[in-house]
Amino acid sequence: MVVAMLLFLLGLLATKAVALNACGNCGDLEVPYPLSIDDNCGEPKYRIYCNNGNLEFMSARGLYYKILRIDSSASKLVINPPDILKDTCYSTDLSQGGLLLDESSPFNISTHNTVMLFNCSDNILLSPLNCSLNSICRQFEEKVEQGSGCVDTLCCNFLKDSAMTSHRIRARVGGCTAYTSLVDFKPDDTLDSWNYGIELQWLPSN
Ligand SMILES: *[C@@H]1O[C@H](CO)[C@@H](O)[C@H](O)[C@H]1NC(C)=O
Ligand SMILES: *[C@@H]1O[C@H](CO)[C@@H](O)[C@H](O)[C@H]1NC(C)=O
Ligand SMILES: *[C@@H]1O[C@H](CO)[C@@H](O)[C@H](O)[C@H]1NC(C)=O
Repeated sequence: MVVAMLLFLLGLLATKAVALNACGNCGDLEVPYPLSIDDNCGEPKYRIYCNNGNLEFMSARGLYYKILRIDSSASKLVINPPDILKDTCYSTDLSQGGLLLDESSPFNISTHNTVMLFNCSDNILLSPLNCSLNSICRQFEEKVEQGSGCVDTLCCNFLKDSAMTSHRIRARVGGCTAYTSLVDFKPDDTLDSWNYGIELQWLPSN
């Protein structure tokens, strides 16, 4: 009898611990541990946001980016790149300097992102970017609706590798005023198979 009671209590504790740790779903997306959408689950450092059934990531500047998918076994998630405002070549996060991640957060920008920059000023050419006429950014300008406001601006692409800061994709007036990003882009991928997104990874918790 006592043993049965104990087992019952232990069982209760165990289910309670699980319930406290992994958050449930947000909309269609499962929120895996240690990601957290409220104070009662996940780990506080891994805070993301469930806003009206949309799972969102918040930048260090307080802007929200929709989370498109999560690969918990690889500790990675993909956020939607900011839109480019209609009839302009401005990313929606331009006034915040682009995407900025808190340096002390467990998240950073992975090395699987091919970033395209638009409406760049000439001085950007000094950095190691592909701004040639056959850069893929030209295809985006000419064939993708969102790029139409950027047609004929100086644009470039680059692979965001480990030699660069992994906490920022910069957009600014006097630099480049818009950007987008592709995950796992390969040179022979055609426009209709481009996988738009910004892949972030997180430091696993222990
Ligand atoms: C390009 O950027 C400059 C500032 O760097 C800005 O004045 C101009 O309006 C931008 N062009 C477009 C098409 O948004
Ligand atoms: C720029 O990108 C295009 C398209 O991927 C490629 O054909 C070209 O060789 C690249 N140019 C430079 C200078 O890397
Ligand atoms: C980014 O995060 C990953 C996983 O947490 C880590 O292995 C990597 O060293 C970090 N990269 C940088 C440049 O901080």
